[in-house]
Amino acid sequence: MLEGRSLIEPGNFSLEEMDSLFCLAEKIEQDEKYLRESCRGRLLATLFFEPSTRTRLSFEAAMLRLGGSCLGFADPGSSSASKGESLADTVRMAASYADIIVMRNPKEGAALLASRYSPAPVINAGDGGHHHPTQTLTDLLTIRRLLGEIKNLTIGFCGDLKFGRTVHSLAKALARYDKIKMAFISPEELAVPEYITRMLHKQQIEFIETRSLEETMPHLDVLYMTRVQRERFFNEEDYIRLKDTYVLNREKMDLGKNRLIILHPLPRVNEIAVEVDADPRAAYFRQAKYGMYVRMALLSSILGVV
Ligand code: CP
Repeated sequence: MLEGRSLIEPGNFSLEEMDSLFCLAEKIEQDEKYLRESCRGRLLATLFFEPSTRTRLSFEAAMLRLGGSCLGFADPGSSSASKGESLADTVRMAASYADIIVMRNPKEGAALLASRYSPAPVINAGDGGHHHPTQTLTDLLTIRRLLGEIKNLTIGFCGDLKFGRTVHSLAKALARYDKIKMAFISPEELAVPEYITRMLHKQQIEFIETRSLEETMPHLDVLYMTRVQRERFFNEEDYIRLKDTYVLNREKMDLGKNRLIILHPLPRVNEIAVEVDADPRAAYFRQAKYGMYVRMALLSSILGVV
């Protein structure tokens, strides 16, 4: 069903298609030998024009665990982009060497453009402040694994909701599920973009925008913390003023439900105190591992080996 398809934003896949990916990821998690050699002879190109730890390494780990191989760059300074080569030419080249491309780029819309020039499928690993669909698959799989189903939940998003592409992708994706409520907790300057709130109004999804994490905490089933995205600020003073607006610590955790889960796409800076890591409700490191399983499911599905 997904063979040969690109993934640019979460809406590219139907709920049924995402559900099949989650089932496959769960199967791989339960039996790590499943699909082990399925991608032998296949090549993944990772083109990272921005820094990454989890997304790049988990894609590479996923491809290697499937028996395939990887090539690419983690720093555009070491590629011919630094000599002025266009994105269109770079992806054409990568597609002539590899079977599938994973790309992160600081420009919104770069992944869509790449997919128009590439004969090989393109997976968006983050385009500026726009979308990060494989993080969304990771987040949804984590909710499903830890809370049973993606339904009847109140999800709080906290921090930099303006530049945080993972928030935009996840909010759009969650709006397609039943009985979901959302709470957007941020300073006014970092509020969730209007196109997201307009979409939620249109789809009649219940949501609030608030400044108070403490007041919202008791109502949440999922708290999605985010880092203030320094690299997307025009002004360092604004970043310094806003960066520590919300710090989740043990005291605030005491306000949450027993069944609450704390997610974070990572990397974190100060927004979750290290003392929270020991709380069984802190799920962000498990979430990062689910990211590898869902990327294994995605690669094997797009390459048509399952
Ligand atoms: N979550 C995420 O995208 O992490 P990286 O920036 O380390 O890839």
